[in-house]
Amino acid sequence: MKNIAILVYSTHHGNTRKLVDAIAMGQDDIDVIDITKEKPADLSQYAVVGVASGIYAGHFGKPLVRYIKANLCEGQRVFALYTYGMPRSGYTNEIKNIVEESRCLYSGEYGCKGYNTFGPFKLFGGTGKGHPSASEIQGAIDFFVGLKFKRMKVK
Ligand SMILES: Cc1cc2nc3c(=O)[nH]c(=O)nc-3n(C[C@H](O)[C@H](O)[C@H](O)COP(=O)(O)O)c2cc1C
Repeated sequence: MKNIAILVYSTHHGNTRKLVDAIAMGQDDIDVIDITKEKPADLSQYAVVGVASGIYAGHFGKPLVRYIKANLCEGQRVFALYTYGMPRSGYTNEIKNIVEESRCLYSGEYGCKGYNTFGPFKLFGGTGKGHPSASEIQGAIDFFVGLKFKRMKVK
């Protein structure tokens, strides 16, 4: 049984997936579950659930939102990871509400810029090229370590 599941929805450029992979690298008690490919395992086996997504039309990926709404289990600790084109507050409001409705505990969130070529931005070469950067990825690792779910060696 693993302790931590990170559910990831990262369909645009794999930006959010980079954060998740950096956090999970070499960590054998983390299951990374790509919500676009796999039907996630029963979440009840996990003490901690990470919810990771790009921001699409102001929201976390809809399939991921639907999934956690139906499957979070009371008492789980939940954290959020996300990448966006434009910084703005409130991207995680919906997630926080679901966590509360599910009687889970919201442990925190980390968001950073991601390469974006959606719609008209493509015409100008996109925004946020090179993001998440190495330091933003390290920021995600530091955030996770700071949650103290487990000890982790950081290079
Ligand atoms: C269909 C679509 C809609 C998007 N809507 C927003 C948005 O509302 N706000 C924003 O800041 N970025 C928006 N973006 C940019 C993405 O959030 C950004 O590129 C993110 O890093 C994508 O993550 P991913 O590569 O993990 O999918 C949008 C991108 C796409 C493809």
